[in-house]
Amino acid sequence: MISPFGSEILQSVYIDDSSLREDLLKEAQSLPSIVISSSAAANAVMLGGGYFNPLKGFMNLQETLKVSESMQLDSGVFWPVPILNMLHDQDLNEGIRSAPKIALRDPNIEGNPVLAVQEVNAIEFISNEAIKSIINQVFGTEDPKHPGVVAFSNGGNTLISGPIQVLNFSYFSSDFPETFRTATQIRTEIETRGWEKTVAFQTRNPMHRAHEELCKMAMKDLNADGLLIHMLLGKLKKGDIPADVRETAIQKMVENYFPENRVMITGYGFDMLYAGPREALLHAVFRQNAGCTHLIVGRDHAGVGDFYGAFDAQDIFDSIPEDSMQIKIFRGDHTVWCHQCEKVVMMRDCPHGPDDYLLLSGTRVREMLSQGKELPPEFARPEVTKILSAYYQTIPQ
Ligand code: ADX
Repeated sequence: MISPFGSEILQSVYIDDSSLREDLLKEAQSLPSIVISSSAAANAVMLGGGYFNPLKGFMNLQETLKVSESMQLDSGVFWPVPILNMLHDQDLNEGIRSAPKIALRDPNIEGNPVLAVQEVNAIEFISNEAIKSIINQVFGTEDPKHPGVVAFSNGGNTLISGPIQVLNFSYFSSDFPETFRTATQIRTEIETRGWEKTVAFQTRNPMHRAHEELCKMAMKDLNADGLLIHMLLGKLKKGDIPADVRETAIQKMVENYFPENRVMITGYGFDMLYAGPREALLHAVFRQNAGCTHLIVGRDHAGVGDFYGAFDAQDIFDSIPEDSMQIKIFRGDHTVWCHQCEKVVMMRDCPHGPDDYLLLSGTRVREMLSQGKELPPEFARPEVTKILSAYYQTIPQ
């Protein structure tokens, strides 16, 4: 079994023991508390799930700058993206400023229940200049049209750093009981199944034929024992398809088109960053923690609009020190239906050209589904089209 990332044993900061959890929850009720941002809450859920092992909590300013600039933690271990509890200073009352320990309240659940308890190591101000440089390094742009840049820019100017103890998995465990899994659970399940080679597929979309075949090609090429479909369950930009619809469509596709017992459909509680190459590195790190030996990185992985080159998220793996992580990537070229080959092909393996390919833009696909039109079966499985079409009929155009 592949080791966890950056440590011998996978350690999460979730309080597993129910009586200890109850005690901490009781203690939390008397601590100064603050409603954190959705992205900080997602970070807490990932830390609690063991995905961000070996991190124990939120980074301070020095480590944030180091991670942004050189992708290294203070300890020297590789890490691609800052993991922050970032807030607006006007939201911090005196109680928070002077407390050694605070309760972090969940912004995504009514009543804002306590999600985690944090030891406060430091409360630091980040200058606009530092924010700008972090944004440029992590997202590769400061364009205000980039959804990740917008989210980060609006995140505030204060960092609360320090270790956390996580009490629950927010709405992810209740809204997606069949799909939400921690890295610890996935690692255990892979071990139980005896899979030695597991390939992870990151996705924030419903899976069409191109995705399905990309997974099948990776499994075949790598001679993998199993496939982990690992869907993002957190927040997305406007226009992306909600997780419950994707969940149903993916379940249907796997049921009908994949061999039995070779696929695990799972999800993780994180908001999409759209940070392209840097997010691909983070994706690899947390799949290693979940016990996967490979991660599929295809075309425009974790990208948005035209902000990244189609294969930047693959190329970045060549620019990091070789011993940064143990997990390997499977580099997928553009997959597409070819009318001549009469199957989905990887463009690099196909002698035909654009005129023979069935290429549909995301906009065209949305348009067709909104108008109740069937997507070509070469593009999407009919069962998947049906589920997506039903969803599009429920949203105002
Ligand atoms: S992502 O933001 O989570 O990367 P998406 O769910 O669309 O978005 O993609 C999941 C994975 O499939 C990524 O590795 C992406 O690069 C890959 N991918 C999606 N479509 C294609 C395609 N047509 N050809 C090759 N790779 C693809």
